[in-house]
Amino acid sequence: MEKTILVGVTGCIAVYKSAELVRLFQKAGYRVKVVMTEHATHFVDPLTFRSLTHEPVAIGLFDDPSDPIHHISLAEEADVFVIAPCTANVAAKIAHGIADDLLTTTALACTAPLVVAPAMNVHMYEAAATQENLATLEKRGVRIVEAGSGYLACGDVGRGRLADLNDIVSATIAALEGDAASDGDQDLAGKHVVVTAGPTYEPIDPVRFIGNRSSGKMGYAIAQAAVERGARVTLISGPVSLDAPTGVQVVRVQTALEMLAACEDAFSQSDIAVFSAAVADMRPETVSDHKLKKSDTEDSAALQQVRLVANPDILATMAQGKRAGQVVVGFAAETNDVVENARKKLEAKRADLIVANRIGEGVAFGTDDNQASLVTPDGCEDLPLMSKHDLADRILTRAVEIGSGC
Ligand code: PMT
Repeated sequence: MEKTILVGVTGCIAVYKSAELVRLFQKAGYRVKVVMTEHATHFVDPLTFRSLTHEPVAIGLFDDPSDPIHHISLAEEADVFVIAPCTANVAAKIAHGIADDLLTTTALACTAPLVVAPAMNVHMYEAAATQENLATLEKRGVRIVEAGSGYLACGDVGRGRLADLNDIVSATIAALEGDAASDGDQDLAGKHVVVTAGPTYEPIDPVRFIGNRSSGKMGYAIAQAAVERGARVTLISGPVSLDAPTGVQVVRVQTALEMLAACEDAFSQSDIAVFSAAVADMRPETVSDHKLKKSDTEDSAALQQVRLVANPDILATMAQGKRAGQVVVGFAAETNDVVENARKKLEAKRADLIVANRIGEGVAFGTDDNQASLVTPDGCEDLPLMSKHDLADRILTRAVEIGSGC
């Protein structure tokens, strides 16, 4: 059943960001309901949230005559309650069990996980009272998404900015996953999955590059499937025009060398690493600092004879440092002898699993579905054509089996 995220909005200038937060939750597939304090309505009209959620926006304790105990029904509907932004005043009230409006009454009545993302002036945030209230909430199991630092609306500089929305989304989904872990479909809860996706662009000059047709859809589907199964996901993405899956940490890179550096940072922490990126095998030896002009003799000669050097093999480099229990999955993009070539890559790159897919005009690259074989040292499983998301799930299931020694 569709899960409901109850978003609590309190009176602070960061309220305008709550609208985007609602959209992010919806994009992740959740139903969203909004409860506002009366003060919050001075910053943003409730109509904004009503239009986004297509649900009535709850404000006053006695606003809904058809529901005499509104705070209880709201609390019961919520699978998670996230208050973002949360003012110092509301944090103080919920820390002390004060329930004097619909939002704080709902917070007291709510047995679902509570997430609090504070936002306020730096001195209010750093005040001992606020810090103690937040610490009290944290001790009770409330997830606090710490405020960030920067230029604040009041003109001060320091801590107090509403946290990055992706961090709030991750914390909220993690709070939901905690409850869902026992559902049985969260087999990657507590695991860290690293995924590479998309092409790499190897620059020739500020305008031109060597690249390929990868859209990133396969890798993004793997990241999406992994986060849905409860994993913490780092997606190392080449240049693509896809939105990052909600709750996934994205590291954006352009070149193979940048992708290698990002993998070096993330790989050792991972339990499963999936290398689905179409990394350029070669890069220009030198990169011109100006646009090479074909009308210029020297530039034209340089353009006609771009010298290439080999890029490092990211998958092979990472697999060399693999620790026990870590599962390394590579891909093989082949036009012929697909499984045979995949088996060679499995051995040469020391991967645990190679996803072998045939590529060609309108096949695999840029499509929403894909047909692959899962090649391991023990055998080969030929899969039918399926959506990239379903294939991602099959790959992750096989990776989990390999990790558990099956
Ligand atoms: O992005 P889409 O449009 O959805 O398309 C998906 C896809 C076709 C790109 C994907 O399914 C796929 O096949 N990805 C691997 C593409 C590739 O580069 O394959 P390869 O056979 O050249 O490389 C073998 C493996 O080594 C791959 O895991 C690759 O990530 C890795 N590699 C390759 C070269 C290199 N320098 N470093 C690497 O890590």
